[in-house]
Amino acid sequence: MSQATIRGALTVGMGVVACAIGAVCLSAGGLLHEPEEVVEVGWCGVVSTPVAQEAELPELASEEMARYAAGEALFRGNCAQCHAVLDRVVGPALAGVTKRRPEKWITQWVKNSAKVVASGDSYAVKLYADYDQQQMPSFDMSDQEIKDILVYIEVEQGTGAVARN
Ligand code: HEC
Repeated sequence: MSQATIRGALTVGMGVVACAIGAVCLSAGGLLHEPEEVVEVGWCGVVSTPVAQEAELPELASEEMARYAAGEALFRGNCAQCHAVLDRVVGPALAGVTKRRPEKWITQWVKNSAKVVASGDSYAVKLYADYDQQQMPSFDMSDQEIKDILVYIEVEQGTGAVARN
């Protein structure tokens, strides 16, 4: 092999290594966020450094925590006398409710369960019968407040985005 061939092979080899590093950085950093700092990696193009991404995570988590805290307060103040997340009390355990029913249904139910039963909704009619026709009170809550309660339930049952402390 001539000098030129060896040098050529080395250059290609370095390029492959640089690409591998670039790919690792890309996958570690995630591709969703706008990078704050960029480094050039050979001819593989521009990749973001993983360090630049970390700043975004606490922001998301604190948003989720705020909703959890709001949901917990609403739940304790309005629901806890009849519901627990994991145990049946007066009403059913609410763990898994977002899998059993669509959010829209839950929202309508919390606002006015009697109306959902009266509409003939078969799930509601059966539930109402199963709980000895005990009517749940209506709550004058916003969709957002009900969503916050659902965030609280999901975290408590262990499937929320933020693990419980
Ligand atoms: C006075 C007791 C009482 C209170 C307070 C109450 N519930 Fe209920 N809830 C029930 C009963 C009883 C049922 C079962 C259905 C029925 O009998 O109407 C039920 C059913 C439900 C269901 C359907 C559960 C399933 O497994 O499908 C959801 C969701 C629900 N309640 C959410 C709430 C939320 C959220 C609050 C607070 C904002 C709340 N409930 C407050 C008594 C109550």
